[in-house]
Amino acid sequence: MKPILISGIQPTGRLHLGNYLGALKNFVDLQNSGKYECYFFVADLHALTENPDAKDLSRNIINLAADFLAAGLNPKKSAIFQQSKIEPLQELKWILSTLTPISELIRMTAFKEKVLQAIKPAEAKKITKEKFEKIAEGTNFGLAEYPVLMAADILIFGGQFIPVGHDQLQHLEFTRTLVRKFNKKFGKTFIEPQALLAKTPRLMSLDDPTKKMSKSRPAGCLFIDDSPEDIERKIKTAITDSGSEIKYDPKEKPGISNLLSIIAGLSGKSLEEVERGFSGMNYGETKHSISDYVSDYFSSFRKKKTALLKNPAGLKKILQLGSGRAAKIASKKLLEIKNKVGLL
Ligand code: ADP
Ligand code: TRP
Repeated sequence: MKPILISGIQPTGRLHLGNYLGALKNFVDLQNSGKYECYFFVADLHALTENPDAKDLSRNIINLAADFLAAGLNPKKSAIFQQSKIEPLQELKWILSTLTPISELIRMTAFKEKVLQAIKPAEAKKITKEKFEKIAEGTNFGLAEYPVLMAADILIFGGQFIPVGHDQLQHLEFTRTLVRKFNKKFGKTFIEPQALLAKTPRLMSLDDPTKKMSKSRPAGCLFIDDSPEDIERKIKTAITDSGSEIKYDPKEKPGISNLLSIIAGLSGKSLEEVERGFSGMNYGETKHSISDYVSDYFSSFRKKKTALLKNPAGLKKILQLGSGRAAKIASKKLLEIKNKVGLL
């Protein structure tokens, strides 16, 4: 049997180049390697922690399904599904939550960042433990529980390999700890899942290369369905560094290095090779050439996505079929788990 590979993305808005290079492109490459049994899902339950509008959420679910397919995920090769349709997840999440100290959850970097979003960045920098706890108490419980649900996503399918970006590593470490705890108490049931990082696991923002490109800061995002005009404008105005040499040096030249890593990530070339390709060009010429490359790269993606979105019922059907297949496998694993725990 092939090892099981699983990952999800939250339907919280348009996918940016960081999501593509850190996650989606890797999903497609790993699927096509033929080495794994693949599960890819729309993490709609995780998206609920942001308290979205119902209409926005259901539109974003369909949109993300279109992104998955337009980028090359194939329902004939992978199970492509919607997280909320997998009912056994809820029971496993509950079991796992009983093995999780609250202190571990409120220590997670992603949780801390969400809590601190409620206050000004300058204030967040010098916050006291007491003040942090006070704000955290008012935060929705789903945000704290987020990593437990993520662990359940992985373990309900017996996931071994998890392609994610750099920011998810802590959640995976948490999952590995839970696996050890569970196996120790109830006997070997789960394998410790391993992260598979892409070549560009942490793409930086175009407007501030010291910060990660993130949906929560749209000003620094290049969206993968952006028009060629938007791509050109965004890359032209991307922050670059002093000097004029085109060099990969993330410390001294974070702006241009970030742009070079986009080309390396998309083309599969090494950073040295990409750097050499631009030698002798100035910033303006380099940016122009990068925006042409990105625009061409996503041209067939844009066409496929537009065509897919003309048939939302077709996209729903694909999710429904994938969810049915995945739910069956999850139900089987849940029986094994309940047996171990003494619930049967
Ligand atoms: P965001 O942080 O933009 O809201 P998500 O949390 O939905 O993105 O992340 C979806 C996937 O994309 C995850 O695997 C995450 O690690 C990856 N990812 C997000 N931002 C980046 C980035 N800037 N560079 C590389 N990978 C990223
Ligand atoms: N937390 C991930 C993110 O923000 C999405 C996710 C949910 C996930 N469940 C998962 C990723 C399970 C990998 C495996 O991007």
